[in-house]
Amino acid sequence: MISDITGRIAVVTGGASGIGLALAESFIAQGMSVVLADIERARLESEVTRLSDDGADVRGLVTDVSDAASVQRLADFAVAEFGAVHLLCNNAGVESGAAFLDIPLETWRWVMDVNFFGVLHGMRSFLPILEDQEQAHIVNTASLSALAAGAPTFGPYVSSKFAILGVSENLHAELAARQSPVGVSVLAPGPVKTQMSLSERNKPSDVPSSAGNAQRAELMAKLNAMVDEVGLEPSAVADMVLDAVRTDRFFILPHPDKAFEAVRKRLRWMETNESPGVRHAGD
Ligand SMILES: NC(=O)c1ccc[n+]([C@@H]2O[C@H](COP(=O)([O-])OP(=O)(O)OC[C@H]3O[C@@H](n4cnc5c(N)ncnc54)[C@H](O)[C@@H]3O)[C@@H](O)[C@H]2O)c1
Repeated sequence: MISDITGRIAVVTGGASGIGLALAESFIAQGMSVVLADIERARLESEVTRLSDDGADVRGLVTDVSDAASVQRLADFAVAEFGAVHLLCNNAGVESGAAFLDIPLETWRWVMDVNFFGVLHGMRSFLPILEDQEQAHIVNTASLSALAAGAPTFGPYVSSKFAILGVSENLHAELAARQSPVGVSVLAPGPVKTQMSLSERNKPSDVPSSAGNAQRAELMAKLNAMVDEVGLEPSAVADMVLDAVRTDRFFILPHPDKAFEAVRKRLRWMETNESPGVRHAGD
């Protein structure tokens, strides 16, 4: 929990686009100083310039969250620039997939490396800095896919988001048990209007593109149309994150009805063996 946000220092990964950029903008509007970290240099530099020109106290560092050394450099940079970090948002994430046996191991590794290990690297590098503050907080971006599986072609993504939920719940319990000043939240949104369906723009060259897969193309076209129609604006999600940081709320659920229904279906599955079956990403 951070009861008084103004004047505190935030670090946001995946901060050059979508939810991460909206988080940074909300934090800046509340008088925070922000370090944006992203793998996309051009977009990062242009957003840092735009925000600085508008008067924000903001820095940017090109960072690959899948690389522990790169995330450690980010932590060192934030401390060198601002002397402290109070709020860490492990938000960078990617998505790619296909039917199970058509997913190359390279794709599994890329999605787990960015989504799960990216979050883990952030927690490992920043926790000692956060624990030195009177109040501090970690927000890990998961997804509704951390609460409900079954989305066709989304195996790596779902697995990575379940893993984020697991590691976040475990750290939350450990920190609460020793009355650490560091709170933990998990952000689990459904559809949000961002560049996520273009995640492969950032894939390493050894990860095959999923573009030629017909099943995948059809699913992604439907998903994109649905996000365009009913997706939340990233700024609305950012407001919920701010509120959770101020009030020390673990689950941040921008789509609460979908989240509760997903968990009810899991409970029914445990009790009756009635499986929820296929679920379309975003449902
Ligand atoms: N958009 C949605 O509907 C939705 C729903 C649930 C969860 N999420 C999650 O929200 C988070 C943010 O995604 P978004 O929707 O804003 O998408 P986005 O593509 O607009 O933003 C993701 C950012 O992460 C950056 N990134 C990718 N790989 C990176 C790496 N290795 N190191 C550092 N930065 C990297 C990208 O360059 C990009 O700026 C992700 O974790 C995603 O899984 C999104």
